[in-house]
Amino acid sequence: MASKTPSAVRGTLDVLPKDSYKWQYVERVLMETASLFGFSEIRVPVFENTDLFQRSVGDTTDVVNKEMYTFEDKGGRSITLRPEGTAGTVRSFLEHGLYNEALPVKACYVLSCYRYEKPQAGRLREFHQFGVECFGAPSPVADAEVIAIPYLAFERLGIKNIQLKLNSIGCPECRAKYLEALREFFSSKKDELCETCNERLIKNPMRILDCKSPVCSKIAEDAPKMLDFLCDDCKEHFETLKSLLDAQNIPYVIDPTIVRGLDYYTRTVFEFVSTDIGSQGTVCGGGRYDGLVSQMGGPYTPSLGFAMGLERLIMVMESQGCEFEPDEPIGIYIAPMGQAASVKALKLCFDLRQEGFSAITDTVGRGLKAQMKYADKIGAKFVLVLGDDELEKGVASLKNMKNGEQTEFDLNNGVQSFYDAFMASAYAEMENSVEKGI
Ligand code: HAM
Repeated sequence: MASKTPSAVRGTLDVLPKDSYKWQYVERVLMETASLFGFSEIRVPVFENTDLFQRSVGDTTDVVNKEMYTFEDKGGRSITLRPEGTAGTVRSFLEHGLYNEALPVKACYVLSCYRYEKPQAGRLREFHQFGVECFGAPSPVADAEVIAIPYLAFERLGIKNIQLKLNSIGCPECRAKYLEALREFFSSKKDELCETCNERLIKNPMRILDCKSPVCSKIAEDAPKMLDFLCDDCKEHFETLKSLLDAQNIPYVIDPTIVRGLDYYTRTVFEFVSTDIGSQGTVCGGGRYDGLVSQMGGPYTPSLGFAMGLERLIMVMESQGCEFEPDEPIGIYIAPMGQAASVKALKLCFDLRQEGFSAITDTVGRGLKAQMKYADKIGAKFVLVLGDDELEKGVASLKNMKNGEQTEFDLNNGVQSFYDAFMASAYAEMENSVEKGI
C-alpha cells in the first residue's frame, strides 16, 4: 500500500522554484538599499540559548511567554529557535567585541524566525525578516536614517500607500512615571481586564496597550499617553527626529498607541503599516534600544534597528501589482537526437557553463518535438538541434527563439559561436529599445 505523502508543518510555507525569483529580487533590493546606508550583512545562528531571548526580548512579552519554539538539546541545554533577529545580533556584537570597532557598527540581515502564533494570512510560524541593527549611534540623525531605509526600500520596490506610524516610549526614567500612571488607570478597571492583563498590570502595564482582546483594547483607548510623560531629553530627541524626517520628505503620523511587543525599546518606536493585506498589516517595525547592550553585559551602547516581514512585504507587492524582476532566461537549449549527439550536447553545455552561460540539454529522453516544446516552456533564448548529420559536418543551426533567425553554429568552436550569436542578439535588442525610446 502506498504510504501517505508528507505535509508541511502548520504555519510554514514553501517557496517554489517558479516563485523564488520574487524573493531573490526583494532580498536583493533590500540588502542593496541597506548597503546604500553603509550596512553590511551579519549572519547569526538559527538557534540560541533560551535565556538570551528571555533577557532581551523580555519575559513579560507574548513572544517569550507564549510563542517560542524551545526545546532541550541532547546535552540538556535549553535552546530556542530565534523569534527575531535583534537578540542574536546583539549577542554576536558583544561576543566578538564589536564595540571596540569604529562606531556605529551597522549590520543588516535576512533571516528566518519562529513564533508559535495562530497562523493566518500574513502570520506564520516560520517567517522571514529583513532587518538592520545600528550600534553606538545616540543621535536622532541615526533614527532618521534607519527609518529612511524601509521608506526608500518601499519606494524602490514600487510599493505605495504604506503609512509610517511614529511614537516615543521614553527612557527608563520618564517611563517609570508613565508606568505608575498606567497602573493607576488600569487598576480602577481591573475587573474588566482579561486574566493576562491582570498579570501585566503587576509586571508591565505597558503590555496591556498591546492586548488583542477587544475589551482590553477598548479600555486602553483612554489610557494615559507616553508622549505626555516624556522627559526633556526624550522630548528633544523626538522633536529633532520629526524635523529630520521632514527634512527628508518622509511623511509620518504620530501614533501614541504604538508601543511594540518587545521589551527592549526606548525612545523612538515606529511601524510601517499597509491596509492592503488585511489584519496583519504591519510590514515593518522597529525602534531604539539604548539600554539593551549594557543590560546584556556590554558597555553602554545606544542602538536601534527595525525588521520587516518578507511574507507580508511580498503580499503587499502582489496586491498592488508591483513588478518583480524576473530571473535571467536560459541562454541555450541543446536538443540532441541520438546517443552520440547527446554526449556532444552534454560537453557543449559544460563548455558554455564554464564561460558563464546557462545551458540546458535533454535529461529525460524526449523526442525532438517534445524537446522543442520544453525549450519553449523554459524560455530558452536559443535552441540548437544536434543530430548525426550535424555531428558529421561539424556545423549546426542555432535558432534565436525570439525572432526565429537561424545562424550557423560551429560545433568545433561552440563557445565562440554562441558568444557571437548572443552578443549580436543583445546588441539588436538594445538598438530596438533605443529606437522605441525604452
Ligand atoms: P517585530 O515587530 O516583532 O519586531 O517583527 C518585525 C516584523 O516581522 C513585523 O512587522 C512583521 O512584518 C514580521 N512578523 C512578525 N511576526 C510575524 C509572523 N508570525 N508571521 C509573519 N511575519 C511576522 C522585531 O522582530 C524586532 N526584532 C525588530 C527590530 C529590529 N527592532 C529593532 N531592531
